[in-house]
Amino acid sequence: MKLSVIGAGHVGLVTAACFAEKGHEILVAEHNVERLAGLNRGEIWFYEPGLKELLHKHVAAKRVRFTSKTEEAVDFGQAIFICVHTPPDPQGRPDMTYVEAVARTIAENLKDYRLVVEKSTVPIKTAERIKRTIGRYVKGDVHFDVASNPEFLREGSAVEDTLKPDRVVCGVDSAKAESLMREVYKGFDCPIVVTSVGSSELIKHASNSFLALKITFANWLARLCEASGADVEQVVHGMGLDHRISHHFLGAGIGYGGSCFPKDVDALAHISEELGVAAPIIRVISETNKSQLERFYATIERELWVLNEKTLAIWGLAFKPNTDDLREAPALRLIDMLKKAGAKLRVHDPVAMPNTRKVHPDLYYANDPIDACNGADALIVCTEWAPYKQADLAKVKATLKVPMIFDGRNCIDRKRAGELGMTLFGIGKAPIKPGE
Ligand SMILES: NC(=O)c1ccc[n+]([C@@H]2O[C@H](COP(=O)([O-])OP(=O)(O)OC[C@H]3O[C@@H](n4cnc5c(N)ncnc54)[C@H](O)[C@@H]3O)[C@@H](O)[C@H]2O)c1
Repeated sequence: MKLSVIGAGHVGLVTAACFAEKGHEILVAEHNVERLAGLNRGEIWFYEPGLKELLHKHVAAKRVRFTSKTEEAVDFGQAIFICVHTPPDPQGRPDMTYVEAVARTIAENLKDYRLVVEKSTVPIKTAERIKRTIGRYVKGDVHFDVASNPEFLREGSAVEDTLKPDRVVCGVDSAKAESLMREVYKGFDCPIVVTSVGSSELIKHASNSFLALKITFANWLARLCEASGADVEQVVHGMGLDHRISHHFLGAGIGYGGSCFPKDVDALAHISEELGVAAPIIRVISETNKSQLERFYATIERELWVLNEKTLAIWGLAFKPNTDDLREAPALRLIDMLKKAGAKLRVHDPVAMPNTRKVHPDLYYANDPIDACNGADALIVCTEWAPYKQADLAKVKATLKVPMIFDGRNCIDRKRAGELGMTLFGIGKAPIKPGE
């Protein structure tokens, strides 16, 4: 099939490359000229494992092309996938400016039937609004449908997630829309869940909020463990073996970040309250998540006493491993707090340092994790990248001024740290202190 993708971001580019892998022909519209120029040189403006190779393969085979003209994409595909961003506004509601602009461009350039598919994460009833907007601006009597096809990929494993999804959700309100969506996903080996458009829109927000709730539950348990002397990892292990609960997303840490969970949780609360349904269970998720980092900072401050002029090493800047995405990254919030307190920071991340440098040009960007520790009064771990989990703690100890680690992801080898006589603070676990 010929398919159009609007927005060459984390979702749009992965969608384009994976649809091409399944045999479709794709035109991607991107209005950011710098990003587009990069794509035309074979460069992707963000890091996502496996994406570059897959995209190169299909660009070379001419199954994926790029354009700056969104109107060209309206003409090209039988289905048009809207993959633009929906960032939160200052009140925590999703800003629909970009989606609305795309709806108007589609209307103004619509000549024949098209299926307009919202893949961006949008509040319930957005499809109705897109339909109304296109209906207002369209010239003549051209038919179209609007479908919802939420995206569940995870940054860091987005290609794999998209090629082998657990399920594909299609919200449709006509037989023609359903049949086109089934054709798009013909090559995918997974259940296709066909629902009403509104249910499909809600599935996305409900799924993300539920996952965020699981993380938040583990973080709340961690507090209880710290107060009672229990160990959160032992507790969630015991819980997660029950397949009704599962281990997924049941780890304690310094809280979730990223472009999706914080925004989607707040959006669900707003949508619910606007519809007259109180949402205390959803509100408590983001409140607990925010205070999780504050508690971590309080531990650092309590142990180090005066932060002014202390040198601290930070491992991990991205909001999670295998991405260079800094949106809502806990490490960035922590850096702000530590800088305000006068600490000097030596930071490391396998891929997110160039992006961090744009926001914080004044930090020391280390050549490797050990270099970050050089002469530092303590090490703080914010992202559980594999190299940090496997780090040689003897070298870390020898490089730090004081052998003290604040592990915000419970990813450092506790046994080894104890054997080496290091001090280690985790989340929801008793600290390891030499001589105690
Ligand atoms: N990033 C994720 O992990 C993820 C996962 C699932 C769902 N989502 C949702 O998918 C949507 C997109 O997220 P993202 O992370 O890919 O965003 P992004 O910021 O990475 O990419 C959006 C792209 O759209 C482009 N764009 C905006 N308006 C345009 C227009 N009129 N014409 C052409 N290009 C235009 C922007 O320049 C940008 O490159 C959001 O609603 C997000 O919530 C994201």
